[in-house]
Amino acid sequence: MNNEIHSVLPNIINHTLVTEAQYRELYEYSLRDPESFWGEQAKKYITWFEQWEKVFSGGFDKVDVHWFQGGKLNASYNCLDRHLEIRGDRPAIIWEGDDPKESEIISYRSLHEKVCRFANVLKQYGIKKGDRVCIYLPMIPEAAIAMLACARIGAIHSVVFGGFSVEALKTRIQDADCKMVVTANEGVRGNKMIPLKRNVDAALQDCPHVNYVVVVRRTKNSVSWDQQRDIWYHEAIARVNVECEAEIMDAEDPLFILYTSGSTGKPKGILHSTGGYLLYVAITHHLIFDYHEKEIYWCTADVGWITGHSYGVYGPLANGATTLLFEGVPNYPTSSRFWEIVDKHSVNIFYTAPTAIRALRREGDEWVTRTSRKSLRILGTVGEPINSEAWEWYFRIVGQERCPIVDTWWQTETGGIMISALPGATPLKAGSAAWPFFGVAPLVVDDNGNILPEGKMGKLVITQPWPGMLQTVYKNAERFINAYFREFPGWYLTGDQAYRDADGYYWILGRSDDVLKVSGHRIGTQEVESALVLHSAVSEAAVVAKLDEIKGQSIYAFVTLKIGVHPSEDLKKELMQTARNSIGAIAVPETIQWAEGLPKTRSGKIMRRLLRKIVDNDLANLGDLSTLADPTVVDELIKICQKK
Ligand code: PRX
Repeated sequence: MNNEIHSVLPNIINHTLVTEAQYRELYEYSLRDPESFWGEQAKKYITWFEQWEKVFSGGFDKVDVHWFQGGKLNASYNCLDRHLEIRGDRPAIIWEGDDPKESEIISYRSLHEKVCRFANVLKQYGIKKGDRVCIYLPMIPEAAIAMLACARIGAIHSVVFGGFSVEALKTRIQDADCKMVVTANEGVRGNKMIPLKRNVDAALQDCPHVNYVVVVRRTKNSVSWDQQRDIWYHEAIARVNVECEAEIMDAEDPLFILYTSGSTGKPKGILHSTGGYLLYVAITHHLIFDYHEKEIYWCTADVGWITGHSYGVYGPLANGATTLLFEGVPNYPTSSRFWEIVDKHSVNIFYTAPTAIRALRREGDEWVTRTSRKSLRILGTVGEPINSEAWEWYFRIVGQERCPIVDTWWQTETGGIMISALPGATPLKAGSAAWPFFGVAPLVVDDNGNILPEGKMGKLVITQPWPGMLQTVYKNAERFINAYFREFPGWYLTGDQAYRDADGYYWILGRSDDVLKVSGHRIGTQEVESALVLHSAVSEAAVVAKLDEIKGQSIYAFVTLKIGVHPSEDLKKELMQTARNSIGAIAVPETIQWAEGLPKTRSGKIMRRLLRKIVDNDLANLGDLSTLADPTVVDELIKICQKK
């Protein structure tokens, strides 16, 4: 890692919101007296219908944390109504279509009207406070509208990424017991159609509690129609009233569920609250992106992920910002697309994933340098560690050495950014997420929970509650405790490996559990294994990460076939298709390696640690093999992997 400090930074920004000295002072205060700190911020960032009784109570010891108990608010009111008077005619959303000829600007006033109408549609079709609504939409304004409409009436949305398969969609609808699905006839990405409505039709065969499907007409193509169940979005909103009072919600009422992968079992429904979450995304969006009134802010993440929720929709809109939603992909029609959009809409703040940066870097500088990008002021990255080559390219070529990069570390569970530079306040180090945000208390510990000295890699934990934290795992309090608080009672376990350097900078090195990050997408190894063994030819499968220059990691699957089944290229294709059907394109293994046997302990547990070392050709560090049931398996696997 490059430990060089980019000191050009303080000269770049002449109007930062927080200076280094202010950061240090506020940070210390936020940990010493979280109650006062968060109480002040809550008054500043959020409009409350009624003030809370207590800023926060409980703790990680008993895992009984509450934020802003007794406080009343509405997230949609905070993102819309309160802005109407001063910035009603200002753009809330700039939508840029997949086709560069298509774009739309939606003012706060118009967004408010659209949200109110759709909220009335939800009510008309029987959705009430607390009901769950599944949103399976492409990156079109209706995605944000549907989220805010749910928030307006107190329904809990569960957004499912449009790239997930029928099977993945089905299990999410079932787990959250959704009553309605909001989708589009088709999605459009990179000039390709995505059959969203067809996927919903197939998923709903096994979801008897879904009464209605609202369908946005995104393309002209027709889709099959169930007269009793399906409703066209444009027809429904035309029929309802434009007024819809925002429901008074308790600070602790859930705002949404978002499914994410863990190291074991099925994806977990991460449940986020209204008050704590909204405050946390508003303050982090404001300070970490140094957002100033009238600036154009663009987060490229899909609304199907937490980044799209927190920094595409809720954070920016709570702050009255203009947020850009992009339907397409970075390389369509050409690899200049991102930068053309930046110029077209005069984007000031741009937030994307290292994977996209690496992929665009490979295409050559010319795609970038032919555009102006003079409006850019701040660059951000999220989702996986950024290697220093990609960081330097982003800084020098994209940002012309003018724009600070905020490398933001956080998770679906944390709700918002936890560790990041503050532009202007933090001298940057390429590849480090830098310093913890206010109120965030990280520690790096060894397997026994001993605090590690500077420079030593270990497990990253968070020792104090923060307002954006998940409330629980939906309908599974036990899993909530087991996943995050069992290993080190009293601390929140992030599942990441990290170290802290002598300047207090955190370097996040990747996951310490069986979770993969493929192009920044979070995938559980066990999910892919369960998918592969669905194929009748497969006896056993073990999945590990392989380093990948562009994707960060790729999926490497060891597969043992049933006796009598012969390996073939066709069978590999079938297995890849099985993963695609079960989860989606993001879970398709890059490599399938046939294996006669897998390394197991005597109690039958697959030793993925060994498989990872074999895949990375790190044979000197295989470690102790004496606990293996059959150590010869390892020699065999090394031989076949080295032949490749
Ligand atoms: O491993 C860390 C990685 O992404 C994980 C969280 O994934 P997800 O819940 O999908 O949320 C992604 C967007 C917030 C983390 O446990 N990660 C996220 N940001 C960074 C990162 N790793 C290194 N550097 C980051 N900036």
